[in-house]
Amino acid sequence: MLIGYNSVDDAGVYKLTENLALVQTVDFFPPVVDDPYDYGRIAAANSLSDIYAMGGKPISALNIVGYPKEVMPLSVLEEILKGGADKAKEARISIIGGHTLKTKEPIYGLSVNGIIHPKKIVSNAGAKPGDLLILTKPLGIGIITTAIKRDKASPEMVKEVVKVMSELNKTASEVMVEYGVKACTDITGYGFLGHLCEITSASGVGAKIYLSNIPVLDYVWKLAEQKIVPGGTLSNRNFMEGKVDWGKDICEEAKLILCDAQTSGGLLISVSKSKAQKLLGSLEKRGVKNSSIVGEIIKDKKCRIRVEW
Ligand code: CO
Ligand code: CO
Repeated sequence: MLIGYNSVDDAGVYKLTENLALVQTVDFFPPVVDDPYDYGRIAAANSLSDIYAMGGKPISALNIVGYPKEVMPLSVLEEILKGGADKAKEARISIIGGHTLKTKEPIYGLSVNGIIHPKKIVSNAGAKPGDLLILTKPLGIGIITTAIKRDKASPEMVKEVVKVMSELNKTASEVMVEYGVKACTDITGYGFLGHLCEITSASGVGAKIYLSNIPVLDYVWKLAEQKIVPGGTLSNRNFMEGKVDWGKDICEEAKLILCDAQTSGGLLISVSKSKAQKLLGSLEKRGVKNSSIVGEIIKDKKCRIRVEW
């Protein structure tokens, strides 16, 4: 076993031979959007993301399904599975089996297997002082999906957030592997700061974040002002309180956005300063358009995170 439970990493890694290791992850959740096909695509993209965050290459997956077939037509389930299968196809893998059980609300996700060279694992523990941090998707996904649940989202908000959530982290991962980066994780339920904290504590470093460089989805600031925020985001916000040094004038909305629980968020990559601009350029060129340098890794034995404007 190369990476297991104790590492708080994105996926487990098991060495098979000198040149080959297996990367394994599983994730599933209830619907985050109304359209079943989109939900399937999002759940699959989210499950695959943990393989990409390790720098791995997915090879196969299994469906995990819970479905209330007494109260919902089977055609809806077919749409969910079609969404998942289409994403798997885009990732160039096959779904080779799965399991379904009866549940009160739909649940969907994948257990994914990937491969990686044992010496090329991009763990959370490799960040070095002086590295720059690159984020590849905008924040605010949790806030928008909460607006959807509360009937406060416009069709254009839905369209935009579905596009962001269903986008695979495949290209971002391939580009970062080409450049050889130090550490990476994907931004999901613990929010940007929560997952950054996993990198800083695993690497024994601190970080400085520049809020004005953080990409945020449209309308998210407004929604945060109206306190349209998921419960998970509020608990992330409370959990992070003692671990973050908030700079002057960092408003409560900004803190919530930085702690927003994401579904299928982007990669957070720690890369040496000399490679950062080129890596960013390559991401842009290959279509990962919302990427941005959002901060830097600093020396700090206490592993604290500073947020400034
Ligand atoms: Co992850
Ligand atoms: Co995960």
